[in-house]
Amino acid sequence: MASPARVAVDPADGPGVAVHAVGLTFSYDTPEGTLVVLDGIDFDVEAGSVVAVTGASGSGKTTLLSVLGGLDRPHAGSVVIAGHDLAVLDRDEMARYRREVVGFVFQDFGLLGQLTALENVELALTFERVSRRQRRARARELLGAVGLIDRLGHRPRALSGGEKQRVAIARALANSPRLVLADEPTGNLDAAATAVVLELLMQVPAEHGSTVVVVTHDDAIAARADRRMHLADGRIVNR
Ligand SMILES: Nc1ncnc2c1ncn2[C@@H]1O[C@H](COP(=O)(O)OP(=O)(O)OP(=O)(O)O)[C@@H](O)[C@H]1O
Ligand SMILES: [Mg+2]
Repeated sequence: MASPARVAVDPADGPGVAVHAVGLTFSYDTPEGTLVVLDGIDFDVEAGSVVAVTGASGSGKTTLLSVLGGLDRPHAGSVVIAGHDLAVLDRDEMARYRREVVGFVFQDFGLLGQLTALENVELALTFERVSRRQRRARARELLGAVGLIDRLGHRPRALSGGEKQRVAIARALANSPRLVLADEPTGNLDAAATAVVLELLMQVPAEHGSTVVVVTHDDAIAARADRRMHLADGRIVNR
């Protein structure tokens, strides 16, 4: 049994704040030297909101999501998400944080090709303490909610791009995450599928109570978000 994850003491991590970042710094070691990608950024994300992260290619959007998602640890500063200070969690706590607190949606869907839509969503519930039957019921319910009740048995290759992304959204929501992180979720979709996926993402806070951080080049998404965070030169630029 893992020890309880460390709880933040910062009063700014109140019930209305989903993400509280102070001095968040992240850099890569490259042959050319240290590349500072996030240069001590401060921001809060309000619980139940949708935030769009924009910025030029290479500005650090994916890096920021990796840190928020517990895939990479901040090099300096702190990020407190749902009571977890990601700068101090150990490996096991990080793994548990990723499993229990976050849901991911990727540009290339990230579905397992050998599994059906239903099985892809069920898989995300493997670690939950629920029976196989309950997992199946929950996966059906989630896929029904994204309009795919008649595609449960389809493998990814037998789904359109938009349908694949809807499966990925259902999977991301399976463990009732506090935070949904989406990296250019409509980057591979046509206009019609983009509109459907956009609508689903915007409904996530109201329907599932999760906060959404979405990286996008799509102005339509950025315009619909509650807030926009633009990255440039390692900083957040308000525009
Ligand atoms: N593993 C790594 N090692 C070294 N440098 C990296 C690594 N990953 C990313 N970078 C560099 O860090 C910077 C930020 O990369 P990141 O992937 O976060 O950008 P991005 O804003 O998501 O770009 P895009 O819009 O093209 O997806 C880039 O200059 C990239 O070359
Ligand atoms: Mg990226």
